[in-house]
Amino acid sequence: MSKLLSPFTMGSRHLANRIAMAPMTRSRNPDGIPGDLNALYYSQRADAGLIVTEGTPISPSGEGFLFIPGLYTPQQVAGWRKVTEAVHARGGAIFTQLWHVGRVSHVSNQPDGIQPVSSTGQIARNSQAWGMTPDGTPGAVDVSKPRALTTGEIYGVIADFADAAANAIKAGFDGIELHGANGYLIEQFLNPTVNDRTDEFRGDTLEGRTRFVLETVDAVIARIGAAHTAIRLSPYGGLFDMAIYPEIEETYLHLADELGRRNLAYVHLMDQKSRGSSALPPAFLAQFRTRYTGTLILAGGLTRARAEQLLDDGLIDIAAFGEPFIANPDLVDRLKNDWPLAPANRALHYGGGAEGYTDYPTYAPAYAGERASA
Ligand SMILES: Cc1cc2nc3c(=O)[nH]c(=O)nc-3n(C[C@H](O)[C@H](O)[C@H](O)COP(=O)(O)O)c2cc1C
Repeated sequence: MSKLLSPFTMGSRHLANRIAMAPMTRSRNPDGIPGDLNALYYSQRADAGLIVTEGTPISPSGEGFLFIPGLYTPQQVAGWRKVTEAVHARGGAIFTQLWHVGRVSHVSNQPDGIQPVSSTGQIARNSQAWGMTPDGTPGAVDVSKPRALTTGEIYGVIADFADAAANAIKAGFDGIELHGANGYLIEQFLNPTVNDRTDEFRGDTLEGRTRFVLETVDAVIARIGAAHTAIRLSPYGGLFDMAIYPEIEETYLHLADELGRRNLAYVHLMDQKSRGSSALPPAFLAQFRTRYTGTLILAGGLTRARAEQLLDDGLIDIAAFGEPFIANPDLVDRLKNDWPLAPANRALHYGGGAEGYTDYPTYAPAYAGERASA
């Protein structure tokens, strides 16, 4: 009996299987408002036990990529409602990923071209956002130098996260996942090689560097409840100029304890190896699992066999798949039947419309031979 394909109870929520669709930015919304096309895309993939939406900015200053649907205006809330209704109509569950990019941004992504904000004034080296190039066309641009948030402003950003979480519930989401991974704002506070502050959010103490994330978690819980609150983390990740530091294990195991105490919907770990960065050390996953006993999701380079193994070993509760969901809207059926997975056209990952988004077909076994030889 496949554990991966068996139902799972997450808190009081019934999930059809232990497969999650990982959050994926697709940049299909030039006006920042989700609509029918997004509703179709997500509903096509609603066989997943849980969908986590693309990263969704909590405020205009949280933006670092063009054409991303946000969650801070009434129009965006109404747009997301179309998405949640379409997924729920197919029996799926859907969380949205709340995102503030911090310093991974360009002045062209910012309101009135102002400087991006961060825990620090240090620029992210070798890092690119997706903004307006000098010739006025959208494209990859080196990130701009950020400005360190004042202590007072930090509390404003925490409030923005809580407001966006309340908006998510208004839009019909089952919950929210804080984007604490991949080098964005939350990780810019966690990582002491970036966080050079000297106030209560300082990077050189365990309490200081974990304060921003834990205060944000608590503010969100206060607004929407712990059962609707989740978080994604990428320990040992290197994306967007995140260096490894000596206290990394201590930092994330402290978070495991603190998050465990809060009875969240889940914690979602991401292994960045399949995204071209460093792998999550296997021994660390086991350590985290011992310290955090709530629902644990892992994403990154998983196959059915690897996911079943991790589930059988008791290391995770839910396996998340990212890129495989792009070209395989029926990924759950394909995994169930051991059907081959279609490769995605990476040139169509970001930007554009339906092509490479909602036009990937489901598997047609009758034509398998024909397609394989094509
Ligand atoms: C096109 C694309 C966009 C992504 N956007 C996000 C995002 O918005 N937020 C996030 O946390 N991870 C994002 N990721 C990472 C995925 O959630 C996932 O963790 C990663 O792709 C590893 O899983 P995989 O090997 O199954 O693809 C993205 C990945 C891809 C391929």
